[in-house]
Order: sequence, then C-alpha cells, then structure tokens
Amino acid sequence: MRSIIDILDLSISEIDELIATAQDIIASPERYAHVCEGKKLATLFFEPSTRTRLSFEAAMYELGGHVISMSDAGSSSASKGESVADTIKVVSCYADIIAMRHPKEGAALVASDNTSVPIINAGDGGHCHPTQTTADLLTIYREKGGFDGLTIGLCGDLKFGRTVHSLINAMSRYEDIRFVLISPNELKLPSYIKNDVLKRNRIPYVQTNNLEEAMPELDVLYMTRVQRERFFNEEDYLRLKDSYILTPAKLKEAKRDMIIMHPLPRVNEISVAVDDDPRACYFKQVLNGKYMRMALILMLLKEAGTL
Ligand code: CP
Repeated sequence: MRSIIDILDLSISEIDELIATAQDIIASPERYAHVCEGKKLATLFFEPSTRTRLSFEAAMYELGGHVISMSDAGSSSASKGESVADTIKVVSCYADIIAMRHPKEGAALVASDNTSVPIINAGDGGHCHPTQTTADLLTIYREKGGFDGLTIGLCGDLKFGRTVHSLINAMSRYEDIRFVLISPNELKLPSYIKNDVLKRNRIPYVQTNNLEEAMPELDVLYMTRVQRERFFNEEDYLRLKDSYILTPAKLKEAKRDMIIMHPLPRVNEISVAVDDDPRACYFKQVLNGKYMRMALILMLLKEAGTL
C-alpha cells in the first residue's frame, strides 16, 4: 500500500502531475465535485493544526467525499495508551485514506507499516511535512513559473522547522538551485540535512544570521516560526523567538519579484504591515495547499484501486 511519508516519496514527474491536477481543479472545480462520492478520509491529529487538518477535510468535501476526524489526542484512545500501530489498524477499517499528524518523528512511518489504506504524513515532529511542501511547490510554480535557477532564503528556526526540511529535499532535485540559510546559531539546519541533501547533491548554500544582508539576492524568502513546542527550555525559546521580524523597511533591498512565503501559523516573524505587499504569498500558500491535497487524495485513491 503506497503512503506518502516524505516529500521524496513523490518523484519529480509525480509532483508535475499533482501540479497539473491542482491547476485543473482550480480551473474546473465542478469536474471534481463528485469524484470521491462514497469515500472516507480520516484525519488523525495527535498535535494541534488549523490549516493542514481543515484543508484536508475541505479537500475531501470538495471532491464529494466524507470525513471522519480526530482532532485531539486527548479525546482518542491514545490517551488510554493505545499505540499508533493499533490505532491505524482500527481506523483502516473505517476509512479509505488517512491523514495523520503526530508529535513523534517516525510515527507516520510506523503508521504506514500497519495500514491497509494509504497514509499521508501531515507532519511528524520536527521531521517532515510533505503536504506543506506540495503547497509550497504549487505556490512557487504559480508565482515564479517554475523551479530552476532560484535562490531560496530560509529564515528562522531551521533546526526544528519540518517544513524547511521537506522544502530543501524537494527543491534540491531541481537545476541551479541555491540556498541561503538564515538563522541564529542555535537554530541552524541539522547537519544530517546539510550532509545528506545539500553536500551530497552539491547544492550551493551559505549560512548567515543576517537577513538584511541576504535579502537582495533572494528570489524566494521563506520565513518560519520558532517552534516553541520543540524546545526543552522556555528560557531559550523566549530568547530566540523574535530573532527575525520581517517588516516593510527590511524589504527595501529585496527584488521586486521576490516572493515572501511562510507555512503559517505566524507568531511575530512577519509584521502584518507586510501582508499588503504584493510579494506576500503566505495566504496563497494556504489555498494552494487545499488544491494539492485534493490532487494527492485522488492520486493515492486511484493507485489503491479505491477510485
Ligand atoms: N502549516 C501548517 O502545518 O499549519 P497547521 O499547523 O495549522 O496545520
């Protein structure tokens, strides 16, 4: 049974296919309004979410399907000690496809080993968030016209930010990509991603803690929240949380066609005054996420022989 745990579980041609389907859904939503009639998506969220859970649910409703949902670990039998493996074996009896978020890295992989229906990783701890990356890719594609030749600035919590890890993996497969990694020393990109992805694939990158200096060369600026829930110590979080706050003044030296992205939720890292800048794309990402999740549900249900 095919599941999507990591963005690299999707080939470049499958990403192209998802983008083409998402664009077709955007152009002709009525053609997709009944394709999942009688099918059920289960959303199992052991960790809080607004966008990912609700966009998966909206996606299934807009495909004509149904949703069963667990939005809080405390209201499920996980609170009585049920394992992820047993939970998935049970939910597989009720649903045709499952989107799961869990605070532990690797939980989605465990789920995929114990399922009879496709599992989509909706975020596993600080590890991966592949469907956020599909939203990011559609946004970059629509705003920049493609992926090759881009200089991408990733700013903020590069250590715990799972969306950053997935996006680096995804973008490293395209031509002539360059990364500027902007973070405080304590929140640098983990060395396993630097070594296994950037160095192994000979992708040029620089590390800096100075956002303003990096700004003029960027085609994409991807801001991230400092991930409070992954810190062991509140003092460290409070010291680092406002390391970067993007304001209109800081954008003065940015390219006129640079795009500003953020997976959201934002706390303080982008001033609301930036929202009116035509380069701000973070709310477009939210909508693009729904279309890419629709496309992914369709792809996986077709492959599973359910549609
Ligand atoms: N981007 C994202 O994963 O948002 P949520 O945590 O609200 O799902």
